[in-house]
Amino acid sequence: MKLLSLTNAILSMSRKKKPGKQAASSPSNPWLREHVQDEFVRRAQKEGYRARAIYKLQEIDERDHLLKPGMVVVDLGAAPGSWCEYAVTRVGDRGRVIALDILPMEPIEGVEFIQGDFTEQEPLDRLLEILGGKPVDLVLSDMAPNISGIAVSDQARAMHLVELALDLADQILRPGGTLLVKIFQGRGFPEFQKAMQQRFKSVRTRKPKASRARSREIYLLAQGFMGAG
Ligand SMILES: C[S@@+](CC[C@H](N)C(=O)[O-])C[C@H]1O[C@@H](n2cnc3c(N)ncnc32)[C@H](O)[C@@H]1O
Repeated sequence: MKLLSLTNAILSMSRKKKPGKQAASSPSNPWLREHVQDEFVRRAQKEGYRARAIYKLQEIDERDHLLKPGMVVVDLGAAPGSWCEYAVTRVGDRGRVIALDILPMEPIEGVEFIQGDFTEQEPLDRLLEILGGKPVDLVLSDMAPNISGIAVSDQARAMHLVELALDLADQILRPGGTLLVKIFQGRGFPEFQKAMQQRFKSVRTRKPKASRARSREIYLLAQGFMGAG
């Protein structure tokens, strides 16, 4: 079951409980309890978005004006699709949103979706083929590997994904284009930030409110692509 569907089911069950029984009836799993009570989860449910992640992109977009009508946008690690839902309305009919994820994604009108592992060649080739050489205005990456609990290897896998996103940006971004990537602070972070600074006029960190304070996750926003050098 998808996360928000699961949340909806739990929320509707908790709505049926008698007043005063809430604490006893909330899920016993601490992660699930936190998820169900999360303000952004509730908001996403109310506003009809697929994931609370929408509010991360929305906050950055409202502050930094990333998305504009007519833009060509690539969304890496797109499932379940809340960034796509948001992006497609912002770029409008003249724009284009091409999304990729290793997981399947329910279709979204106006979004071209590729299912595949971004660490493999074939999905990348399909993406390049779909673009047909047309330069891209904005590359988004919210990719995050499944966490194994072994910190060193989790960090290495996360860094590998951001490096691949930067590699792609090198190949497809138009001059002056933008890259927004989710990254985890830790080993490899300073070197990656430096690699971005060599390619973009400005590189800034963003920690939107919907990104949990205890998480090492932050976003690097790179604007003004100058080329891979
Ligand atoms: C935090 S979720 C993205 C949420 C999305 N931005 C949204 O708004 O719905 C991270 C996504 O990265 C995807 N991902 C992780 N590793 C990947 C890989 N190697 N190739 C493609 N997608 C990957 C996961 O499947 C997951 O859907």
